[in-house]
Amino acid sequence: MPNWLKDAVFYEIYPQTFKDTNNDGIGDINGIIEKLDYVKSLGCNAIWINPCYDSPFKDAGYDVRDYKKVAPRYGTNEDLYRLFGEAHNRGIHVLLDLVPGHTSEEHAWFLESKKAERNEYSDRYVWTNAAFQGIGGHPYIGGEAERDGCYMLNFFKCQPALNYGFLNRTEDWQKAPDDPECIATREAMKDVMRFWLDHGCDGFRVDMADSLVKEDDENKSATGSIWKNIREMLDKDYPEAALVSEWSNPHQALKSGFHADFYLDHHGNGYNTLIRDNETPGGDHSFLKKDGDGDIFRFLDDYLPKYDGTKDYGYISFITCNHDTPRPRRTLSYHELKIAFAMFLTLPGVPFIYYGDEIGMRYLDIPTKEGGFARTGSRTPMQWDDSKNHGFSDCNPDTLYLPQDPAEDAPTVAAQEKDPDSLLNEVKALVTLRHKYPDLQADGSFEVLFAEKNSFPFIYRRGMLMVAINPSEKEASVSLIDNDHYEDLAKVSDEYHYDNSDIVHCIGKCDVTQTKITLGPQSFAVIKLD
Ligand code: GLC
Ligand code: CA
Repeated sequence: MPNWLKDAVFYEIYPQTFKDTNNDGIGDINGIIEKLDYVKSLGCNAIWINPCYDSPFKDAGYDVRDYKKVAPRYGTNEDLYRLFGEAHNRGIHVLLDLVPGHTSEEHAWFLESKKAERNEYSDRYVWTNAAFQGIGGHPYIGGEAERDGCYMLNFFKCQPALNYGFLNRTEDWQKAPDDPECIATREAMKDVMRFWLDHGCDGFRVDMADSLVKEDDENKSATGSIWKNIREMLDKDYPEAALVSEWSNPHQALKSGFHADFYLDHHGNGYNTLIRDNETPGGDHSFLKKDGDGDIFRFLDDYLPKYDGTKDYGYISFITCNHDTPRPRRTLSYHELKIAFAMFLTLPGVPFIYYGDEIGMRYLDIPTKEGGFARTGSRTPMQWDDSKNHGFSDCNPDTLYLPQDPAEDAPTVAAQEKDPDSLLNEVKALVTLRHKYPDLQADGSFEVLFAEKNSFPFIYRRGMLMVAINPSEKEASVSLIDNDHYEDLAKVSDEYHYDNSDIVHCIGKCDVTQTKITLGPQSFAVIKLD
């Protein structure tokens, strides 16, 4: 386990829209370098950059044309190497985005693989034996190549699936995961990883990490074996490199060698129940909405078994949102966002803040760009200040990569830096708090002390800290004694001493006595036990 992950707070940067330095309307590597001091001012000590490689950008760069080349629109490889150095000088680690499941249809490997004559890359992708032989249960394309066969897709039409084999085989064109051609795909991906690690990158966020071996078993054990093999390489040659998976199944991902796995908003996951179930058809009330109608068990019933079952293997990564999901501001007000950040930044594991969420940037209802569709509204240019294009770029506004929030009160970094009550300053204070107390960090223990439907606050313990959250607009209090139902809570009041002077962080109004915790409307408190 890379030691630095224990206290890592990540900032996800979408390179297209973070900061443009050459005024072509698109963000660039030099822009990220320019803003590293800002990232540091947030207290973030790690960044994840979405794919910045050469690409035709039919899926915003997740269609990689050359894994080892920075897209010219973002700069050069030298710029990225400089970014690694500048980040390290500031104590910031850098994860790149590894896309192992597919390439662009314009990748050199695929151009070779399409050819009728057999060559080194013929089996790098999944092909059937005839143009008229399709693939049951998977998307595929036929009739587009000289080669007599259909090829499998991993996502959009532009993303042919790399070949890691099939665990359960029913067709003669399906290769076993340990076939030399499938091993060659894995080794090619390790070569890509080595390339960037040797140039100073600190690890990878791995795209669709669970998608490698097809017709895998329900535990994804064949895909898991590939990651275990890759992890062996890291442990041996790059022990401080981190691997974070887009898998959203920590049982599978962490036991396959990932250091952390995202807690995404996939269906059935607890994330939506916290922030945006009010808008899901048939959905319940979200826990963090001030109407106070939410039920924390809808989150805990999902999260606790995942946490308990995986805490010895690695970390669960909470996200404020990401480039694929609606921004939390779509459903939460500024104040609700403060409480949401307070919760996310005091849970165990490794948290990720998506650029712009720290100022509450809005989700915009705008037309699709580069395969974004509904995701596009979360990818708009960062709002730095009130100057032209909100300080993102000096370009003609018509050439901006995406439009910006047209609202009068569009949030900006500059305005919020000046306002002591801003979301931005709250986020900074919370990140600072997390760095100060190891108990709040990735490895600190987590134990629910008080959770009850229709009753607040929700209270949990992180080591020698007690955290209480009242998202509702009504004052709420909990007695710490005579609480037969909550033995651990009663134990805390038997064993430790605390009062208002032990509150180490507070949002809203908090009152703590030895026997009772009272939180005003939409409040949050962290209390030190001793
Ligand atoms: C992941 C990425 C997403 C991309 C897809 C295909 O889900 O986060 O943006 O479109 O994989 O690579
Ligand atoms: Ca630019």
